[in-house]
Amino acid sequence: MSVEAVRPVVLCTLPLPAPAPTMLGERAAVRVLGRIPATEELVAELGAGDVEVLCPQLNDPVTAAVLDAGGERLRGVCTYAVGYNNIDIAAATARGVVVANTPGVLTDATADCALGLLLAAARRLREGDALLRAGGFTGWEPDVLLGLDLRDALLGVVGFGRIGQGLARRALACGMRVAYAARASVVVESDLAGRVEAMPFHDLVESCDVLSLHVPLTDSTRHLVDAAVLARMKSTAILVNTARGPVVDEAALVSALRAGQIAGAGLDVYEDEPRTAPGLIDCPTAVLAPHLGSATVRTRAAMAELCASNALAVLDGRLPPHCVNPEAWTGRPG
Ligand code: DGY
Repeated sequence: MSVEAVRPVVLCTLPLPAPAPTMLGERAAVRVLGRIPATEELVAELGAGDVEVLCPQLNDPVTAAVLDAGGERLRGVCTYAVGYNNIDIAAATARGVVVANTPGVLTDATADCALGLLLAAARRLREGDALLRAGGFTGWEPDVLLGLDLRDALLGVVGFGRIGQGLARRALACGMRVAYAARASVVVESDLAGRVEAMPFHDLVESCDVLSLHVPLTDSTRHLVDAAVLARMKSTAILVNTARGPVVDEAALVSALRAGQIAGAGLDVYEDEPRTAPGLIDCPTAVLAPHLGSATVRTRAAMAELCASNALAVLDGRLPPHCVNPEAWTGRPG
């Protein structure tokens, strides 16, 4: 039997950036699917029973059926993302499959993206770009596309983890006031203590000028921002979402934007990616990005390194450094 034949198999759904291919290639046979798979494709691919570690992307459906298809051989799911709402964690844990993610390294890039969307929506840069490209810029005028002053405006951050606090720092530097709604156990970093205020979610919704979402997608955050919440926001307020699309009821948002119920939105994520809700792309006050939060060269490389380190740990029989279900490890046959 050749040495190659006994190398463990790592399946990546899309190619991972450097340094992951080299890191993984030294230890494993890396198979790349090369496309975003439907559940059935993943089931078929894992059904060969030779995959030890699956490295999916953030929208790949890692369901109980997919985990079952992997069988006894599948020991780890190391996602190339910090969010892991696409993975059935309970099913993985029940099958002794560890799940690991890439936290920390994309905090700044995602907070930058949220600030960019906030600024673009507040200062109506997308509308200005469209106006100019359509030949509508016929000279400076006092009242064209007037927007929101950031100084003294209130930013409401929903979910105050690493990225939410990263955005808070950036907003404070722009002269904004910052309040947040988060679970009671949240740890506010010392440099922010005394500069940000905790508020109940509904008070935050009603009083903020910009509402920015930074919660993971769970059963309790799905449609957290629905028609009722949008109706409570100021008509001059802006919604920013760089977290996960389904945290917002996108159809309700389209209605709110069309009706001028809120002033604008800056979105990086969508309920049913890569699709957007009917009418969203025609809303002039919506600034839309195609899930670019972590899309910088350095950040994507750092994510690749973490993802590969997690996978190598699984292959070596070690708990991955960023395991989200360590309880799956206990009792696993070695
Ligand atoms: C993540 O990692 O969860 C982001 O949404 C994309 O980088």
